[in-house]
Amino acid sequence: MRGLTGKVAFISGAGSGIGLATANRLRDEGCLVTAGIVDESQRPALGKADAVVLDVRSETQWQRAIANVADKHGRLDILVNVAGISRHGTVEETTSQIWDEVIAANLESVLYGSKAALPHLRRAKGCIVSVASINALRGNTGMAAYCASKFGVAGLTVSMAMDYAPHGVRVNCVCPGTIDTGMVRVHLDDAPDAATVLSGIVAKHPLGRMGRAEEVANAIAFLASEDASYITGVALPVDGGRSAR
Ligand SMILES: NC(=O)c1ccc[n+]([C@@H]2O[C@H](COP(=O)([O-])OP(=O)(O)OC[C@H]3O[C@@H](n4cnc5c(N)ncnc54)[C@H](O)[C@@H]3O)[C@@H](O)[C@H]2O)c1
Repeated sequence: MRGLTGKVAFISGAGSGIGLATANRLRDEGCLVTAGIVDESQRPALGKADAVVLDVRSETQWQRAIANVADKHGRLDILVNVAGISRHGTVEETTSQIWDEVIAANLESVLYGSKAALPHLRRAKGCIVSVASINALRGNTGMAAYCASKFGVAGLTVSMAMDYAPHGVRVNCVCPGTIDTGMVRVHLDDAPDAATVLSGIVAKHPLGRMGRAEEVANAIAFLASEDASYITGVALPVDGGRSAR
């Protein structure tokens, strides 16, 4: 993809799944990647890549992490907000503790990361790509807090796209369908009949399978690249056709 070589990128949630695939993909494209990891146990997955422990719920930690990257490289071109958690439950099943956990990890994280990065992105005419979800475009059963958080990510995306377009900063998000990562495997492992749950998931996706983390990373790399130079404010489904139903 054009225009990624030498670009300085920070990726949250890069210790596993979609974030790790994105770190690998952007590095392969020639970016100077710093990976945000939740704790030291995730560092080995990144190999020799720069990795910093960052709890995305903390504005202070975001400010420090982004300032360190910008100091080291003299710039920041790309922020990818990937970190997130999934919790199930209807509104009646959603305690205020679950609500706060999900909103902090999935939505406040995007606010804090973007706030820390934007002064640098304005200078570099850079971009933000966040990972929302198909649950930012469509309703889902038993996912109240998660859906609310991901609709929030899509809302922040269009809001930031409008505010920062005059500065040459593009802001987009991707909306994955069900992707075969640890987040989904945990729910399958908890299910009494995992095979039935899995076939239900597959049936929702016209391409007839779950997605791979690398397939989401491909879309993120595209949106971060010069090939997407006239694209801002979009919520791009990466969902095997699920949202086309
Ligand atoms: N897998 C799917 O089907 C799917 C679908 C749509 C959207 N998503 C979104 O994709 C993103 C990545 O998820 P994934 O599927 O790769 O699963 P994953 O569990 O492998 O990745 C989530 C990452 O976020 C990190 N994280 C969680 N809380 C954090 C915190 N407070 N501070 C720092 N890091 C934290 C985890 O350590 C993990 O590395 C999430 O935002 C998720 O909501 C996933």
